Amino acid sequence: MNLWIPLEGERSALPDNAEFTAHTERLRPYYDELGAAAPAYEDVEALPDFDDQIDALLAAAPPVISFVMGVPPRRVVDEARRRGIALIGTATTVDEAVALDEAGLDAIVASGSDAGGHRGAFLAPLRESLVGTFSLVPQIADAVAAPVIAAGGIADGRGVRAALALGADAVQIGTAFLATRESGASGAHKDRLGTPAARTTVLTRLFSGRTARGIPNRFVRDMAAYEDVVPPYPVQNALMQPIRRAAAAQGRPEYVNLWAGQAAALTGDGLGAGEYLARLVRELPRQDAPFGPPRAR
Ligand SMILES: Cc1cc2nc3c(=O)[nH]c(=O)nc-3n(C[C@H](O)[C@H](O)[C@H](O)COP(=O)(O)O)c2cc1C
Repeated sequence: MNLWIPLEGERSALPDNAEFTAHTERLRPYYDELGAAAPAYEDVEALPDFDDQIDALLAAAPPVISFVMGVPPRRVVDEARRRGIALIGTATTVDEAVALDEAGLDAIVASGSDAGGHRGAFLAPLRESLVGTFSLVPQIADAVAAPVIAAGGIADGRGVRAALALGADAVQIGTAFLATRESGASGAHKDRLGTPAARTTVLTRLFSGRTARGIPNRFVRDMAAYEDVVPPYPVQNALMQPIRRAAAAQGRPEYVNLWAGQAAALTGDGLGAGEYLARLVRELPRQDAPFGPPRAR
């Protein structure tokens, strides 16, 4: 199971009514074009209580809990250890990896700025936390005792081999699985992965209020001037939800987030997730494959 740790300021991110109205009005042309209703001020909820989420997670006792966007509190680490739950943390900088290592996490994801989806920087401002996977992985491998899981821009056997050569013990892949048959990504999203359209990705706050990497579309380009103006997560996320939903239902990908990492154009050959994984393992030379080559049937 995986949990986002609230970033500074997000727990109390709700604006006053006047500010909320200004944020809503900025999106009015999109609500109107799609026939979607803007959320009412009363309907926007603050983040769920983090301690409640932690208690539910610990009670569920999955074999592994992974965190992004922070260091889990001491009591979580102690309690997880007592219950035999392994903990994985996610770092976007060497400093974050060291903080996670010192907190006693069992493995650390080195999440390069190449990665698709939301950025998890939590110690320094985002613009100081955009280290590419190729630079980040060896520096984190040098700095921490815990095993390192490389993430960001890995889509095929070449990427896995490079990550292992840089000192990673494992890899975490997101975008390439988005493109597989079983993923819940929309058809329009999958249609772009693996095409020249996926060679360009951008970081944007516009869809959720948290910075994330995806393929730019009309909404991202038209709203570029407001990147630093839109409210933080979860408010912008709530404002955008009706737009994303209506656009998805109407087959309008120009208004939907198309999350993708920088290797997105290497993905998307229509394989099932199992076939993709088996191909990945086949692409690794025997001595590099952490789990060994697939067994002959
Ligand atoms: C659509 C999407 C959603 C993601 N959601 C999460 C998430 O909720 N929690 C998390 O830890 N990582 C999340 N990730 C990041 C992946 O776990 C992984 O680190 C990342 O995708 C690796 O980079 P790649 O996209 O270049 O393969 C997400 C990635 C994508 C593309």
